[in-house]
Amino acid sequence: MYPLRRNRRLRQSEAIRGLVRQNYISPNDFLVPLFIVEGKGIKEEINSMPNYFRYSLDLLKVEVRSLWDLGLKSVLLFVKVPDNLKDNKGTEALNANGLMQRAIKTVKDVCPDMLVMTDVALDPYSSYGHDGIIADGKIINDATVDVLAQMSVSHAQAGADFVAPSDMMDGRILGIREALDQLNFTDTGIMSYSAKYASSFYGPFRDALDSAPVDLQDIPKDKKTYQMDFANRDEAIRETEMDIAEGADIVMVKPGLCYLDIVRDIRNNFDVPIAVYQVSGEYAMLKAASEKGWLDHDSVMLEQVTSIKRAGADIIASYFAKDVVKLLG
Ligand code: PBG
Repeated sequence: MYPLRRNRRLRQSEAIRGLVRQNYISPNDFLVPLFIVEGKGIKEEINSMPNYFRYSLDLLKVEVRSLWDLGLKSVLLFVKVPDNLKDNKGTEALNANGLMQRAIKTVKDVCPDMLVMTDVALDPYSSYGHDGIIADGKIINDATVDVLAQMSVSHAQAGADFVAPSDMMDGRILGIREALDQLNFTDTGIMSYSAKYASSFYGPFRDALDSAPVDLQDIPKDKKTYQMDFANRDEAIRETEMDIAEGADIVMVKPGLCYLDIVRDIRNNFDVPIAVYQVSGEYAMLKAASEKGWLDHDSVMLEQVTSIKRAGADIIASYFAKDVVKLLG
């Protein structure tokens, strides 16, 4: 007895595979993270992120133009803040002439149509490397939300299209939405890192920004009191539901590959756009393995970003964005 149904009929040639293919990757899928530093003429490679760079504002212009020419129309900005400007409250984050605020203007100057999203969290500004203010041996929630709301307004004033709170404090989406609306920034969007896990895949990013939590006597060196436990699934639904109710326009799952079940859960439960952040550690893993000749870089990269889309992502924040778009031609 031979099978009546032969699934391999639909896999016999590239032509038939093309006809039945369900998911495609295009430049429109990507949000490109960019790391920015003070100075001039700086394009420095990040140690743990081969072929990924920090740019000073002058060279950021060049990079932004090249992204635009490749069809990459959205960026997510992160800044590396000099140590002497860091404190517990992230005071520098509110400086109207701070590095982030200047970076936003720089991108808009060279490329007015580029969509600019900004990271909103205290860690690059915190002398302790935490996403919130520390008091009484705790990361305190509500006072942190106040700063995040002011920070969001400052980014909007500088010209950001979307703010992207990545801190995981409770109630921050509502705090940010109200602060923006009060000043008539009703068109400024919020992309919330809704289901952000306490992950060890963020290591290279913390190298890139010199933002790792420091040793403190009464505060753990990890972010487990605010980012989610990677053993949990239902909590992601709860977080996402609350963020949407508080006014998030786009929700995010982070990291990517290990969390695609969460992406599908959210896709099945909500009808807002979903972003997935393929994080620094995921980038570093593939770079390392391919440098050793153990994995084929380009085909694994394409498989990974396509899988993220198949899981249900509308938007992929990825350090591979340029590589993928160049590969697709
Ligand atoms: C800051 C922030 C982090 C990342 C994005 N925003 C680090 C962290 O939460 O410790 C990680 C991104 C990456 O690893 O690529 N709140």
